[in-house]
Amino acid sequence: MPKVILNTKDLCKTYLTDGEAVHAIKNINLDIYQGDFTVIMGSSGSGKSTLLYILSGMEDTTSGSVNFEEIVLNDLNEDQLSIFRRKKIGFVFQGINLVPNLSIIENVILPGYLVEKSKKKVDQRARELLGIFGLEEQSFRLPSQVSGGQQQRGAIARALINSPQVLFADEPTGALNSLQGQNILNVFTELNSKGQTLVMVTHDIKAACRADRILFIKDGRIDGDMKLCKYSETDISKREKTIFDYLTQKGW
Ligand SMILES: Nc1ncnc2c1ncn2[C@@H]1O[C@H](COP(=O)(O)OP(=O)(O)O)[C@@H](O)[C@H]1O
Ligand SMILES: [Mg+2]
Repeated sequence: MPKVILNTKDLCKTYLTDGEAVHAIKNINLDIYQGDFTVIMGSSGSGKSTLLYILSGMEDTTSGSVNFEEIVLNDLNEDQLSIFRRKKIGFVFQGINLVPNLSIIENVILPGYLVEKSKKKVDQRARELLGIFGLEEQSFRLPSQVSGGQQQRGAIARALINSPQVLFADEPTGALNSLQGQNILNVFTELNSKGQTLVMVTHDIKAACRADRILFIKDGRIDGDMKLCKYSETDISKREKTIFDYLTQKGW
């Protein structure tokens, strides 16, 4: 049995806006396994982003708990949480959010300096990551001087600078064209094949194809949990059909 890296117990999240309660997450009990590429799907407003933000310690819970290995996130104060996030997790957003007046490599290095005392080590790792993602030539350009796909690869490099145990991504291909999107997915597949644990929200079946587990969220609850074999280039159309049929059956 693979190791559980993240776990929720009776997790609930309620937002209060203008005196009205929105129950975004309703009693979710979930285990996320180390080494898995877990994808979260579900219709708009079903609670996918809220769940991802809570799992990654960016959003607090209304009730229930989130456990990251031996760490109980609910027990951490704000300072401890931000240290936790910096060291243990990486997060890639849909809208690319690199700091506009810093170069690509400065963006990647910045969270590294906050954790690792040796600047030399951080610089070396940043160069290594940018090399892996084919961004050597773009290292010293500003985000506005490279393509959207290159910016998103830079954002992934930044998310990986502290070697996080889990990399989260909320619709990371949502703002990209199809070629750029495939490129990002290839990066994720490659990372996962080397053991990186990934949790990604997506609307896109092609993106979901990369998963070895698909969680389906409906109205704040887990309504489906499908296990797939690891992604490979062969039988992609069969894989897409399996996922499509599953989602159709779920009322997607
Ligand atoms: N910060 C917030 N304040 C109030 N309501 C929110 C907030 N964030 C999300 N919600 C509500 O919670 C529900 C789930 O939202 P979200 O997690 O963003 O869904 P998804 O990512 O699946 O589209 C929606 O009804 C949304 O309007
Ligand atoms: Mg969302």
